[in-house]
Amino acid sequence: MAEKKTRVLIVGSRGRLAGSLLKYWSKSHEVTGLARPALDVSDLNSLPRILGDLEFDVLVNGTGLTNVDRCESAREEAHIVNALAPGVLAKCASQQGARLIHFSTDYVFDGKKREAYSEEDTPAPLGFYGTTKLEGEQRVLEQDARHMVVRVSWVFGPTKPSFADSLIERAMREDRVQAIEDKFSCPTSAEDTARWLEFFFESSVEGGLYHACNSGQCSWREYGEKALEFASEAGLTLRTNQVAPISLADMKQFIAPRPVFSMLSTRKLAATTGMTPRNWQEALREYIFKKYAPISSPT
Ligand SMILES: NC(=O)c1ccc[n+]([C@@H]2O[C@H](COP(=O)([O-])OP(=O)(O)OC[C@H]3O[C@@H](n4cnc5c(N)ncnc54)[C@H](OP(=O)(O)O)[C@@H]3O)[C@@H](O)[C@H]2O)c1
Repeated sequence: MAEKKTRVLIVGSRGRLAGSLLKYWSKSHEVTGLARPALDVSDLNSLPRILGDLEFDVLVNGTGLTNVDRCESAREEAHIVNALAPGVLAKCASQQGARLIHFSTDYVFDGKKREAYSEEDTPAPLGFYGTTKLEGEQRVLEQDARHMVVRVSWVFGPTKPSFADSLIERAMREDRVQAIEDKFSCPTSAEDTARWLEFFFESSVEGGLYHACNSGQCSWREYGEKALEFASEAGLTLRTNQVAPISLADMKQFIAPRPVFSMLSTRKLAATTGMTPRNWQEALREYIFKKYAPISSPT
């Protein structure tokens, strides 16, 4: 008997994470993506009407005002998109008997702990982005115990360039590149995230709060150096393989305060799914080879 396909509706489907989820899950499920202008989550009143006309088993919220510095000034928009809209989406999902998968961030923590944060640790966001994301989490989880909040960190994937891609691009043009050496977290492969979360399509699997990232930890500089190493191996010609260190305090252009250590423990995810996230370097290498090796090899 053919396995039942899950009907998945992804809002904000052009995002870095959501785009990868859409592509990966479409191989085995019935996946629909909605993005602006068809659906603007800040128009809170329109959400029940638009979603009420659609059928889905799992609703995924890929939207977010993710520019951490912009959130400090665009406070009203950040609050609506990151805090209020998730609550409304959670209610819409509940009304249809569906599970919501909503994403949050390591930036809900202040970074003072020096070991990986678990789901039990008390959040204490430093900036407005983290504050609004935390409120969004609470609104989702208060609505329905089946819903899920998934905290991720340093996401990379093929839909949209991220830190690794922009550093590789800079190293192709410039002799010197730099990255922060005293801020630590763990990169998260968007494609691996799709694999882990597919497990939660089964409605009997417990919802709640989960941390999801690859294993290991690194500074931004170490992350950058590995990206350049793998890009060289994949055949790209770089002007430098070295990433010069700068400190977080030197980043005068940063407006929002950021946690210096925001590694997430994935023990709960592994215990629930039986899948232990692979090391970030392996996932990053695979991503870089898939994206850049075809460009570098002559046709
Ligand atoms: N990337 C990371 O490193 C990271 C780290 C921690 C947590 N997260 C969380 O992961 C989730 C996804 O992040 P991401 O990296 O995929 O972000 P992203 O690439 O910035 O995507 C966010 C998407 O939200 C959409 N959006 C924003 N406001 C909207 C609105 N009013 N109505 C409809 N769509 C709207 C944007 O649409 P447009 O394309 O139209 O602008 C964009 O496609 C977010 O919840 C974020 O907080 C990400």
